[in-house]
Amino acid sequence: MVLASAPGKCILFGEHAVVYGQPAVAVAIDARIQITLEESKSGWRIDDMKFDKNRHPHLDAMLKRMWIGDGGGPLSVHIDSDLFGAAGLGSSAAICSGVAAALLHLGGTPADELPLPGIATTAHLAEAEAQGGRASPIDTSTSTLGGVVMVSDKKEPQAHWQYTRDLRIDGIRRTWEVHSVDLPESISEASLVIGFSGRPGPTSQMVAKVAALLSNQPERMEDIERIGNVTRAGATALSLGNLQAVGIAMNECHRLLQGLGVSDDDLDRMVEAALPSSLGAKLTGAGGGGCMIALTTEPRRTAQAIELVGGRTMVSRLGAPGVRIENE
Ligand code: MEV
Repeated sequence: MVLASAPGKCILFGEHAVVYGQPAVAVAIDARIQITLEESKSGWRIDDMKFDKNRHPHLDAMLKRMWIGDGGGPLSVHIDSDLFGAAGLGSSAAICSGVAAALLHLGGTPADELPLPGIATTAHLAEAEAQGGRASPIDTSTSTLGGVVMVSDKKEPQAHWQYTRDLRIDGIRRTWEVHSVDLPESISEASLVIGFSGRPGPTSQMVAKVAALLSNQPERMEDIERIGNVTRAGATALSLGNLQAVGIAMNECHRLLQGLGVSDDDLDRMVEAALPSSLGAKLTGAGGGGCMIALTTEPRRTAQAIELVGGRTMVSRLGAPGVRIENE
């Protein structure tokens, strides 16, 4: 039996723009997905039921690529989650990353020799296939590496380059540079409060909505570039521990995302409620439902304010460990 876990993530800056090559910065959060794998004598099982690949397309893609293709036999899979489901917190990326680590360990890779770039790559392929080829590697690389991750179409000087991620789907080749961002000690003064609207954030639909907007109004690509500039400034502020500037960059990202039409009334209400006790607040992930985040030194007060307007909340540090094997 193997037990692996992987963190969820929040995008601090750059969602949607990252799909078009601009940088994005995401933090791994304390809430995690736990994956248990064991060999099964009663065929493929998931959470004690027959495995239905249509209900679990990401998992099916991972198992085919990493296990069934190599002649592996049926497994029983258990998934436990501390994350709000379908809320833009990277639960499918965490599942892919956790399953990849668990399969490698089941196949004999020692827990301290897990090939993180390889895990992130396989997990990204599964995500990209499920999202029709448009997914960036921000979710899967953050869940795999942990901490704070920046991806961009070029190497970014304010972060530590880790590896290049290439993706070829439907004859189109995309390349991203994946970095980690070091945080100074002083960052621990601030927390993230995550507010969930209670409605799922439909990632593929929201990514398609932005694609349609840009195709009808190509001049709106300027807003995507603006998000990229704010993201670079925000990443620099983060690495210097300048919390005020991080908050300003978050607010600016939210304004630009509103302009792209991916926020909604629930997200805007929670952002407004959080602002008086926060350094900055914005939607996180694809929008259209899902979650917002607030950077704050008063997490209880901010969480209460978000709950008063109907949000469900959780509090996290900025940055948590990446994918790992839990039972050695
Ligand atoms: C989803 O967490 C973030 C988006 O930028 C999509 C992606 O990066 O693939 C909206």
